Amino acid sequence: MKATALAHPNIALVKYWGKRDDALILPHQSSLSLTLSPLSVTTTVEFGVPTDAVEINGHTSKGSERERVLRLLESVRAQTKDALGPAKVVSRGDFPMAAGLASSAAGFAALAVAGRAAAGLPSDARAASILARLGSGSACRSVEGGFCEWQRGERPDGDDSFAVQRFDAAHWPDLRMVVAVLDRGEKDVKSRDGMKQTVETSPYYAAWVRDAEEEVPRARAHIARRDLQALGELCERNAWRMHSTSLAADPPLCYLNAGTLGLIQHLREHRKKGIPVWFTLDAGPNPVLLTDAANEVAAEALARACGALDVIRCVPGGDAVLKQEHLF
Ligand code: DP6
Repeated sequence: MKATALAHPNIALVKYWGKRDDALILPHQSSLSLTLSPLSVTTTVEFGVPTDAVEINGHTSKGSERERVLRLLESVRAQTKDALGPAKVVSRGDFPMAAGLASSAAGFAALAVAGRAAAGLPSDARAASILARLGSGSACRSVEGGFCEWQRGERPDGDDSFAVQRFDAAHWPDLRMVVAVLDRGEKDVKSRDGMKQTVETSPYYAAWVRDAEEEVPRARAHIARRDLQALGELCERNAWRMHSTSLAADPPLCYLNAGTLGLIQHLREHRKKGIPVWFTLDAGPNPVLLTDAANEVAAEALARACGALDVIRCVPGGDAVLKQEHLF
């Protein structure tokens, strides 16, 4: 009745931005991401305790965060014949929330894998991805490692909306992602609210959906050939388009700050000098630089020269895994 899992966060190369179903977390478009190592979140789940209890990074979880965890576990209960009873959840991440990387993606992926195992359900990446999606959309892409594609699906019940691994981490061991933490503050508008505002008010939203859907197979082809330049250019284009559709929302959503723009300007200068480095940007001011092993030191130096307070260097990460050691 107790199980523990470890999962890595992921960074979207083609972003997910907007839901067609808020309750089931079904996206308007497909997306594609890279799982990031060595960052991880570990989560232990035990069923059959006296009352539900959720602790994340040493704090008792409250409000919508707690509700999301309990809702995911409710879905686990619905899949078993046994009466599992209330659950205790303890989750711990090993990277700063302030990095702007969605720790929730790794957290809900670990919760889904541990929750299924604690309930005695068999290991099943697709079922775990669907479950993780109920916690946070991007979490469905952290169940497996390497490059994962979240297929938007068509069904109203969401059973065909899950992530599949296209290439494992060993496909491109030379690829590097360098997180440039320019700002440690919490963002004003969370992804969940920002994407909803964009769907509802941006006149460019339909174009975003069409374009992102078309970029996914192109990104897949660039990854298949390990074509860093083509993938880098696609990543930047896709990030700009996500931010453009958000800037066109009413009221406008601007996640970039002056530091973000300064770093992007410097990237261009570096590329002119022949250093292969591109950026992607989630719903926050901290860019993630895409480069290769030979240039990661140069990418880190660039980030620091542009005011990065912290720099986190990442490599392609593996699948979420069950662990023998529990957190309680
Ligand atoms: C910009 O997965 O955090 O990082 O589904 O509402 O929990 P919810 O949102 P979330 O949004 C991620 C948005 C993004 C792009 C991406 O990761 O694809």
